[in-house]
Amino acid sequence: MSSVDWPALKSAALAAQGRAYAPYSDYQVGAALLAGSGEVVTGCNVENATYGAACCAERTAVFTAVAQGLTSFRAIAVATGGPEAGTPCGICRQVLAEFSDGALEVLCFTDEGAEARYTLAQLLPHAFRLK
Ligand code: THU
Repeated sequence: MSSVDWPALKSAALAAQGRAYAPYSDYQVGAALLAGSGEVVTGCNVENATYGAACCAERTAVFTAVAQGLTSFRAIAVATGGPEAGTPCGICRQVLAEFSDGALEVLCFTDEGAEARYTLAQLLPHAFRLK
């Protein structure tokens, strides 16, 4: 299996971050998911006046990919702002775990140069599995 083209995945995440709809938090997030097929699917956070109806960038990307028939993933790049790279929230970790084993690579980075790389197993040990 070829190695992940991180620069390409990061630039797709940055482009998606530019499409974030975050008028309430003003915290823009972009995600780019690399499917097993090699296709890249992106997502951004989409907020709502009810607050609770907001969807994170990572879940937007996963749900978009699944709707396109892609259900196996190798890596995800997540772009946030600020001095520290934000990591996927707990719900997004569990959603990622639904479609990937713990080897999924997760790269979190910011436009200020912060960067951290994890496996999903590091971010979500003992993920819940129904079967
Ligand atoms: N957000 C994400 O898009 N991904 C995460 O993993 C954490 C939080 C979004 C949700 C909301 O629109 C904003 O960031 C502030 O929480």
